[in-house]
Parts: sequence; structure tokens; C-alpha cells
Amino acid sequence: MCGIVGYLGNKNAKEILLSGLKELEYRGYDSSGIAVLQNGKFDSFKAIGKLVNLEEKTKDFVTDNFSIGIGHTRWATHGKPTELNAHPHIGDESYVVHNGIIENYAELKQELITDGVTFLSQTDTEVIVHQFEKNLNISDSAFEAFKKTISELKGAYAILLVTKSTGETIFFAKNASPMILGINDENEKYFASSDTPLIGQCSDVNYFEDGDYGYVTPTELVIFTKDDVKKEAIFTKLSTNKLSAQKDGFRFFMEKEIYEQSSVIADTLLGRLSDDEILFNELDDSLLNGINEIKLCACGTSYHSALTASYLFERYAKIKTSTEVASEFRYRQPIMSKDTLFVVISQSGETADTLETLKMAKAAGLKTLVICNVDNSSMVRLADACILTRAGVEKGVASTKAFATQVTIFWMMALYLAKRNTSLSSQEIAKQIKFLREVPSIVKVDDEMHERIKRLSKRYLHGHGFFFIGRDVFYPLALEGALKLKEISYLHAEGYPSGEMKHGPIALADPELFTIALLPQHLLYEKAKSNVEELSARDSTICVISSQEFDKADDFIPINECTDYMLEFFEMMIVIQVLSLEIAVRLGNDVDMPRNLAKSVTVE
Ligand code: M6R
Repeated sequence: MCGIVGYLGNKNAKEILLSGLKELEYRGYDSSGIAVLQNGKFDSFKAIGKLVNLEEKTKDFVTDNFSIGIGHTRWATHGKPTELNAHPHIGDESYVVHNGIIENYAELKQELITDGVTFLSQTDTEVIVHQFEKNLNISDSAFEAFKKTISELKGAYAILLVTKSTGETIFFAKNASPMILGINDENEKYFASSDTPLIGQCSDVNYFEDGDYGYVTPTELVIFTKDDVKKEAIFTKLSTNKLSAQKDGFRFFMEKEIYEQSSVIADTLLGRLSDDEILFNELDDSLLNGINEIKLCACGTSYHSALTASYLFERYAKIKTSTEVASEFRYRQPIMSKDTLFVVISQSGETADTLETLKMAKAAGLKTLVICNVDNSSMVRLADACILTRAGVEKGVASTKAFATQVTIFWMMALYLAKRNTSLSSQEIAKQIKFLREVPSIVKVDDEMHERIKRLSKRYLHGHGFFFIGRDVFYPLALEGALKLKEISYLHAEGYPSGEMKHGPIALADPELFTIALLPQHLLYEKAKSNVEELSARDSTICVISSQEFDKADDFIPINECTDYMLEFFEMMIVIQVLSLEIAVRLGNDVDMPRNLAKSVTVE
């Protein structure tokens, strides 16, 4: 998804902007650009494809004086990924970068065209810079023109704008799209759409609120709220840990993140387990009082963890639970009753569809909770309560450790609610907590297992598709396996409940159809086994993941014998992640930045 950086100061603006954009690469993009104003002169560069193309174009460009600059990585929404559509967009004497979508751009553009403005791109963003310059002609100051422009925009935006007449000023505005200002002792000012470009450059950061707009100069920081009231920035300390952003010797961030799951799950559990109860200091009684139902809402992988939760909540806590795909929920005029706890799940905390459902739930007066990996993200700031997953920065576009920590939180939450509802005995809760404590060691990647999957992967590079099948919580895990594989290998894969195959999908069974069957020993083993036998009888090529040998399988990936089905869940999770990774590596794909995908989906 698009990324923004901005810089005001005396250092090498070009390098700062480019390295800031590099930190945002993991979000996914298809073009990039920068514009720098120094010594009263603008220089701007754009390139399609990877950042190295922009680096090549700027190699002879030198910035060694005071300057202001803005930069952008674009993930195409309005118009193809071309240089003309890449940001920054230019007016006569101004440049703009923008994340989000300007919903009323078509009408603004029509008026501007009538006024004689020529547009160079197909983007919604370009209207901002022309509208600003139109307003500049009739305003007393550039800031007045900027303020007027912002008031005329509808939609979601994080905007940085620079203009020649105020050569020491960066104008900014934020609405429903993240934007952060960073400062340091050297009187520099940095902007970015997420923390990562600021780590190591800034000591303190201010997270802008929706509706904030204003400007910075070397000596000033002026912020107004959406109601045009001047306000002070609220600076907080920025983490200095950049180590986690490196690959640590792994081939891909995704691989490193698969291996990190043991330590991040240990972090997720830290301080939250006693011998016989779950401690969520983040939750207070008022959140759960009067709640008779839970609704979980999310997208993609986070939706799969939510679906897993729905089995655990009903089984252990005996609380009615439903799960919703956020992009569907937001437009289907759902009935929302106030005895429902509305829970959104998001790695990033910025996914537009999920964020919107949270706003809907709040507007309907529901109590809200977010399970999130990014503190200070939009969802965390909006929800009534938040449980952080503590997975650390996840850079691989294909989510792994975020999923693992979400499921861990949900398992804990099921037990937390079970205690409240007295639906499980203390002994049963204590037993489950013992299992939970085993998860960090269960998810340690075994070298032998990795090597075995690496060898096996060469048999799964062709065929006409994959079925991942499982029952109960292994059904969401099957969905997740299929999503992981298709995201990074570009092979067709579907997840199905095992018992559903005979209702249609089994028609596809033949030796070129690969079935990855999840066969846990401790949950519906015999039932799931029969479903696999049905596929085997139709000559589908079967790969079974189980602790129990299965003679009808063409391939078998053994997991360790565990004492509980949730531990088998985590064992199998590692297998499907590693299998997807190794298939994608063999196919020569860029595992960390798969085609067409973005890390943080901030448009609907
Ligand atoms: O940041 P979120 O958890 O809200 O993101 C939701 C999905 O976009 C995300 O899980 C996506 O499906 C990943 N690429 C999965 O690997």
C-alpha cells in the first residue's frame, strides 16, 4: 500500500527520503518518487517498479543544503502504475504526495479542467495540487490556500504538500490514513506514514488525529483540529530498535518471521498466565458486563484467526460468537445489538475495511475491542479496549507470526471468558494453561522437518490446484494454508472443511489435484480420515500432515505427538507456512513482496 515520507532540515534530504521509502517497501508498491526544494529550486524524480530504479534516476542529484522534500511509494488505485501516475504530483510551483482516496476528485477535476487546468495523470491525487494552486491565487497566504483545499476534499487522506513561495514549509493533513511527525535534537522534522522510517532518525513522534492539518517550518509546528482549533502536538518517545528490521541471515523476512514465532509467542504470553487464570490487565469488567454475544470482524489472515476464535469461544466460554469478513459486513446493513462485544482483529490496525466496521460498531453504541499488533495504530486509538499481540514488526507481506500471536491471544481469551462464565472448571483451565505454556516450544522450527519439506516441495510445483482441508479449528487453518500458498506461489489453492468436499469440490479430484490434509489426532480424527479416504479413492494426490501415519497418503509430513488438538494446530501451522515458503522459493518468487499485494491495505 502507498507510503509517505517527508523531510525538513540541513542533512542529505535525498538519502533520507530514499532510505525512508526503503523502510516502507514491505507495504507493497509499484512506483515511487521524490521532490526536493533547495536553494529556491525544485527537483523531482519518479520511477516505476522497485526503488532501485528511483535510486538510479537520482544518482547524480545532490542535496547538501537546507531543503524540504517529500517522497512516496505508490500502490496503484486510480490509474495504472506509470511514471505519470506516480507521486509527487506537480502543479505550477507545488508538489503533493497523498495516501488514501479523494472521493470527490471527479467533480473537482471537472471544475479545474473547465478553469483551463491540464492534468498529467489519471490519479485522484493530482486534483489536490491544482486545487491548492487555484486557491493560492485567491488567498492571503499559502496556508490559507492549503486550509481551504483540505476543507474541499472528501475521503481518506494523508497529504504532504510543498510550494515554492513558502520554501521552508511543509504542509500536512491527515484523515483516516496514518501520518506521523518525528523530531530530534538537530531541529529536523520528519514525516512518515508509519514508524519504521523514523526509527534511528527521530527521538520523539506525534501521531496526528483524523482531521488534523497544519504546517512545519524550521522554527514552527502548527497543528489545527478538524474544527479549526489550534492544538499542541503530543510527542511520545520512539523505539530505537532497528535490529528487528533486519533479516538476520534468513533468505526472506517471511522465513525469519516463521522462525521468530517461538519467541514472539513467549512475549504474547508474558505476564498474562498464572497457574489457573488468564490475566488481561488491558480488559476491565465494564467491557464485558452485559455482553451476551461476540462478533469478530477482520480481513484475510486476521479473519482466519477470528474464525478459529469462534470455535474456541463457543466451546470453552459458551458464548455465542459470529465471525464476519469486514468488506462484506460494512455494506450489508447489519443488525447490531448493544449486548454484543464487537472485536476487530488486525495485524496493522490500519486495514480500511476493518477500521470502517469498528467505526460502525462504535456509532451503533457497541462496546469494542481490538486485537492488534501495532500500538498507536488507527484501530488501537479508536477501540474501547485493546489487546496487543506483541509479534514485533512483521515485514513479510504474507502474514505468519501475526497470525500465530492472534490465535494465541484468542485461545487465552477463550479461557479468560470461560473463567468469567464459569463454563470450564478451574482444573480444566489450569490444564489448558499448561498447554498454552508449551506453544513457544511447539512452534520452534525443527531443522530436519524444514529440510524434509524443502525436498518435498519440488513435487508440488505444477498441477491444477491445491485443496487444503480440515475440520473444526483446522478448517480456518486450512483456509490460512491455502491463502499462504496462493499469496506467495501464485498457485491456485482453496481451503475447505473436510466434510464439504463431497458436496461438489471432489469433482475436481484427479492425480493433478493436490490435497493437503490436516489430520489431528485429538479432534475428529476418524471423521477427517474418512474424508481424506474419499479423495484418495478418486486418485487425488494426497499429502497428509499428522502425528499418525496414514497409509492412503502419497506424501506424509509428520508432526510431533501432542497432548491437545490446539498444540497440533500450532505444529501444523508451522508446516503449512514452511511448505508455502519452499514452494514459492522453488518457483523463484519474491516471497516478501508478492505480486499485486500490499502489506497494509488502507483502501477499501
Ligand atoms: O493488517 P490486517 O491484519 O488487518 O490485514 C488483513 C489482511 O490484509 C492480511 O491478513 C492479508 O490477508 C495478508 N496478506 C495475509 O498474509
